[in-house]
Amino acid sequence: MSEQGPFRLGVLGSGLGSNFDSIAQGCAAGAIPAEIALVLSDAEDSGILRSAKALGVPTSFIAPGKYRTKLDETAEAEYIAALQEAEVDLVVLAGFMRILKGEFLKTYEGRVVNIHPSLLPSFPGLEAWKQALDHGVKVTGCTVHFVDQGVDMGAIIAQETVRVRDDDTAESLLARIHDAEHRIYPAAIAMIAHGEIEQRGRRTFHKVDP
Ligand code: GAR
Repeated sequence: MSEQGPFRLGVLGSGLGSNFDSIAQGCAAGAIPAEIALVLSDAEDSGILRSAKALGVPTSFIAPGKYRTKLDETAEAEYIAALQEAEVDLVVLAGFMRILKGEFLKTYEGRVVNIHPSLLPSFPGLEAWKQALDHGVKVTGCTVHFVDQGVDMGAIIAQETVRVRDDDTAESLLARIHDAEHRIYPAAIAMIAHGEIEQRGRRTFHKVDP
């Protein structure tokens, strides 16, 4: 953890980077009292790396190694080393499509957050908005949660609902979920950076000074 100075975020992503953009805007506007210290990606040609570079944020592509859904041991050690070198206080997963476990979560226990495109615990895993549409739910949404050893299982910090319309396609539903993600993720990170989120068991509480 950084000894002093601003709260430092390390953002990990694999894709477009629209959540990264909303977090970077929140930091620049002062809505999130933090700075983005580092962006890491397992995809060399990802939008998130391009966006971060354009903003002058330090970036690194770290190859994930031999597995399809997780980091191998060498890659995991490289991710940890890069985040430690950058003195990151909070690891922010923004569309990082690898499961983090073991050593990574031991090192950053209670300091990793994720955004997921459904109202967890419904529809964990891949393409959650499609799962929701196919299941026929009338309301879905997105969830910000702490990351623990289970997949999409950690304590919930924030959620926003999105109504499913009769004429929705997967694309139109995902677009509205993304809009909601871009509201709740920066807001949740701001609360954490302010030290306002307290976790007791599976529940989290937003404590604000009276
Ligand atoms: C977001 O919709 C996020 O919820 C999802 O990836 C997308 C990344 O978009 N994450 C997961 O599904 C994790 N299980 P972005 O690259 O534009 O931020």
